[in-house]
Amino acid sequence: MSARDDLSGVLLSEEQINKIVKDLGKRISEDYQDKNLFVICVLKGSFIFAADLMRSLTIPCRMDFLAASSYGSGSKSSGNVRIIKDVAASLEGLDVLIVEDILDSGNTLSRLKKLLSERHPASLRICTMLDKPARRETPLEADYVGTVVPDEFLVGYGLDYNEYYRELPMIGILKREIYSN
Ligand code: IMP
Ligand code: MG
Repeated sequence: MSARDDLSGVLLSEEQINKIVKDLGKRISEDYQDKNLFVICVLKGSFIFAADLMRSLTIPCRMDFLAASSYGSGSKSSGNVRIIKDVAASLEGLDVLIVEDILDSGNTLSRLKKLLSERHPASLRICTMLDKPARRETPLEADYVGTVVPDEFLVGYGLDYNEYYRELPMIGILKREIYSN
């Protein structure tokens, strides 16, 4: 039994992901040429994307991890965001780039952006591998978007369902029967 058997289809192959990440890395390297780039990898979903993205950069850069929990009623993400694991360094004067796996409702990321902006970075932008605009509840646009995706539950390349499937090298659509029961 392989994790791939739980996919109804592959949305993005390894090759397609590689191209998307390389293009993003090129754009970011150009935009941050004379800046003080500091990448914040939002755990856990973006650990693989952030690792690949950083290796496609051609400029100096530093990074740290941040973990946030959002909670409200039930399992749905809400506007209440708490930082569980914070970045170690001060962000003052840095050109901060928040790296996310997927922008969905936008609730978590918009709160996170507000919290981090209070630390006086020189600039603060968002880079997301995937953007699912159909699910947006809080108006928020990422500055760098890998690709826009349809309203399906996606797994792989860091994205999980109940903590599984993160190891898949492609981004797949999870079979409905797996998450609807
Ligand atoms: P939101 O934008 O506050 O709703 O939270 C986005 C987070 O929800 C992401 O960082 C993912 O962890 C998770 N998420 C949203 N859509 C998916 C999906 O299709 N597959 C896996 N995780 C998802
Ligand atoms: Mg996540």
